[in-house]
Amino acid sequence: MRKKDVMLTVSGLHAGYGAARILHGVSIRVNEGSVTALIGANGAGKTTLMRSLSGLILPTAGSVEFDGADLTRSDSSVRVGAGMALSPEGRMVFPTLTVEENLRLGAIHRRAWTRHKEQIEKTYAMFPRLLERRRLTAGSLSGGEQQMLAVARALMSQPRLLLLDEPTLGLAPVIAHEVFDILKQLSAQGLTLLIAEQNVQRTLEMADYAYVIEHGQVHSEGPGLQLLDDPAIKHAYLGM
Ligand SMILES: Nc1ncnc2c1ncn2[C@@H]1O[C@H](COP(=O)(O)OP(=O)(O)O)[C@@H](O)[C@H]1O
Ligand SMILES: [Mg+2]
Repeated sequence: MRKKDVMLTVSGLHAGYGAARILHGVSIRVNEGSVTALIGANGAGKTTLMRSLSGLILPTAGSVEFDGADLTRSDSSVRVGAGMALSPEGRMVFPTLTVEENLRLGAIHRRAWTRHKEQIEKTYAMFPRLLERRRLTAGSLSGGEQQMLAVARALMSQPRLLLLDEPTLGLAPVIAHEVFDILKQLSAQGLTLLIAEQNVQRTLEMADYAYVIEHGQVHSEGPGLQLLDDPAIKHAYLGM
């Protein structure tokens, strides 16, 4: 069953890079147990929002509240400790480290480290290909395997909210399909997901709720299937 408690509340967020102001007052909410999507053109600000949520950049105004705690100015490790983890755009695995070393690094926060061995076994059960490749360097994996590793590494911190930035970018359709299957499994297990994705069709199909980001602002929002039916969305993002 979907719970309706709000897990993440982002209010009036402004953020950017030095003089480059990218987000202009973004407000979104993520309910516990839900799949929430961010869609929008390249350069709209989705990654900037993900970076602000995970503490990689600090906002210039607005707030980020997670589980009732104000994390607006907290650093990344505090957010990981609170239960948020990011699978970043471009995967960002450590190419010269082995698969297993990459996974261990995902559990480096002390809350997760105490159970990292057990968590590695769980991870291998979910990602059998990572088990087969555990002693290989991450750089030798295929794009799809690296993406699985990026997701698995984020899961190693045992998050309650998983932030996924473009988890299928650059992957062949059949591999992208596998990634979506994994995300559906994680959601079915009760994990809360916030996903930025260029595969708008698939993402809206699985999203309980979605936000359309344009030019650093929320342009429209609604249940995934409702947005999928919206002629303006179809025209702008689905080429219909
Ligand atoms: N490190 C950076 N420094 C300066 N500008 C950046 C940086 N990263 C992204 N941008 C700019 O921020 C805007 C939003 O980018 P981004 O958040 O990556 O969008 P999206 O993820 O929706 O494609 C773009 O104009 C991009 O050029
Ligand atoms: Mg992006």
